[in-house]
Amino acid sequence: MLTDRQQHCLKGIGIQSWSERTSTLDDRPATGPAVEIASEPVPQALENAIDSSPQEVLAENPVTRAPVPTSFDSWDSLIDSIHGCNACELAHNCTQKVPGVGDQQADLLIVGEGPGHEEDMRGEPFVGRSGQLLDRMLAAIDISREQVYITNIVKCRPPNNRDPKQDEAQQCRAYLEAQIEQIAPKVILSVGRVSAHNLLGSNQPVGKLIQQMHKLPGTEIPLKVTYHPAYLLRNPSAKAIAWKDLKLLHQMLR
Ligand code: URA
Repeated sequence: MLTDRQQHCLKGIGIQSWSERTSTLDDRPATGPAVEIASEPVPQALENAIDSSPQEVLAENPVTRAPVPTSFDSWDSLIDSIHGCNACELAHNCTQKVPGVGDQQADLLIVGEGPGHEEDMRGEPFVGRSGQLLDRMLAAIDISREQVYITNIVKCRPPNNRDPKQDEAQQCRAYLEAQIEQIAPKVILSVGRVSAHNLLGSNQPVGKLIQQMHKLPGTEIPLKVTYHPAYLLRNPSAKAIAWKDLKLLHQMLR
C-alpha cells in the first residue's frame, strides 16, 4: 500500500491511481501496451531537454583547448577542474559549467544527458521542467534531491539541446569517472538514451535496456536505466514503466 504522502507524490507526477499490485497499470502483462511503448526506440527529439530556444550562434574556432586531467587530488580540485575546462567546443558555447549537485556520499547517483537551457543559466542539473518531474519521481519513493547526487554525461550545455557528440562525451568522461569513484554510489540511475548509451557502451533502445539489470562496465555498481523525465513529460503513458523502475530502484537501495 502506498502512504498518503506517496499517493500525493504520484499525483504530482501525473499518475493518480498508482498503487502496489492492485493497480491496473501495474498488473499489465509484460506484453501489454505499456511494454510496447517501452520497446519502441526513444525518439531523439523526445529525449532532448524540453526547453527550446532559437538557433544559437557558436563561438568561432580555433579555440584554446587543454586536455582534461586524468586524476584529481580532491573533490574540490575535481569541481574546479570542471569549471576551468575548455577541452571541447561545448565549453566555449555554454554560459557556465554544470558539474553536479547533491550529497557527495550519496547511495544513489543519477546521471542525465547534459544541461539544458535552465541548467545552463543556473549552474545546476535538472532544474527545468524535467528536473521538477525528476524531483517528484524521487519523492514518490521517499527520496529527496538532497539525498542523491545528480550529474550529467557532459557538464556543458550542448547548443540547441542537441545530443552531445561522442568526442564531447569522451572528453567529459574523466570527470564523470572521478565523480563515480569519489561518491562510490550503491546504485546508479541512468536517465535516458544518451546517458544509458554512454554509461553502458550500448546502442540498444532504451526500452530494451530498461528491461535488463546492468552493472557499470568495469565495476560492480548496479546500474538501472529508466526513461528521461523529458520523455515522460511528452509520453505520460510511459510513466507506468518509470514507476516500476522507481520501485525496483527503491528495493536496490535498501
Ligand atoms: N536534461 C538532462 O539530461 N540533464 C539536465 O541536467 C537537464 C535536462
